[in-house]
Amino acid sequence: MTFLFNSDARRGHVFQQAFARELPDLPFSMDPTSVDPDAVRYLITWTVPDDLPRYRNLEVLFSIGAGIDQFDTTNVPDHVKVVRMVEDGITRMMQEYVTLGVLALHRNLPSYLSQQHRQVWNALPQVQAAERRIGVLGLGNLGQAVLERLKPFGFVLSGWSRNQRELEGVTCFAGEAGLHAMLSTTDIVICLLPLTDETRGFLNVDLFEKLPQGASLVHVGRGPQLVSEDLLAALDSGRLAGAVIDVTDPEPLPTGHPFWNHDRILLTPHIASVTQPHSAARTVIDNIKRIRAGLDPFGLVDRRRGY
Ligand code: NDP
Ligand code: OXD
Repeated sequence: MTFLFNSDARRGHVFQQAFARELPDLPFSMDPTSVDPDAVRYLITWTVPDDLPRYRNLEVLFSIGAGIDQFDTTNVPDHVKVVRMVEDGITRMMQEYVTLGVLALHRNLPSYLSQQHRQVWNALPQVQAAERRIGVLGLGNLGQAVLERLKPFGFVLSGWSRNQRELEGVTCFAGEAGLHAMLSTTDIVICLLPLTDETRGFLNVDLFEKLPQGASLVHVGRGPQLVSEDLLAALDSGRLAGAVIDVTDPEPLPTGHPFWNHDRILLTPHIASVTQPHSAARTVIDNIKRIRAGLDPFGLVDRRRGY
């Protein structure tokens, strides 16, 4: 029975040491060429390798990242559990990034950067936090964590998910009707949805038109959820005031793409959260212990739902 690590060596060494300490009975390998394929029960990877069928006894496929949209599961037998990464490092970094994005938009940073470039000294009217309405699309691990981190600022908080949630201090909406109700009362919308057939192209003109005039976007889900032309049109018409964009389609964003130089867009290269090896190793080890005890791992993916 072997655990196969198929990602960068730096993180692999941290995992290897943690496994040696915590699961000494489980052989650990970072080399698919020397491992006995029949011994591999657990595999951690970013994408599903083409030669996956050689691991005939595979039981669990772990994603090294929080999202699993990059997994092509065509070759993954139904009985194999697919597990996404739920770890403190990703959560903490996402809390930091979204707070950064929300505060930048709340405090008119895109406008002040533009003024600075033009050498304009001009104070803009400032809405107070208690009047700024923040809405999070996706109330999973990250959506909830981000809302928790935003609470102390005193913003008006809401969130939307497929199933109705109850969160203290957050007005929760669900489903199609709930989406309209939330968007119409949201000044800064944050996308933390997984990429699925239902959420591809979700951030489009129809959604932007449901937001109040002058609303803003923080996009940290996945690039293909955003229709770039619709965002540009909404920014250029003034319907949206600004956007903080961490994920694009494609990545890297090609040279010359209009996002690069748009003065209402703050752009970062998919760095909102990065899997942290020590906490990720802890999570995977805990999950293997749970699986061995007959429990479901944290982050078990519902393969029909796609997240
Ligand atoms: P979770 O699976 O924990 O949460 C997903 C949430 O989205 C759930 O609340 C779910 O609703 C909701 N949801 C999914 N589909 C729909 C739908 N069609 N309609 C309404 N709600 C829906 O995911 P995480 O919070 O862990 O991560 C979210 C995403 O963040 C990842 O999939 C990834 O794409 C992105 N991410 C981006 C990173 C970056 O660096 N930019 C880093 C890490 C993650 P319900 O609760 O009802 O099931
Ligand atoms: C992830 C990511 O899914 O980095 O972990 O986007």
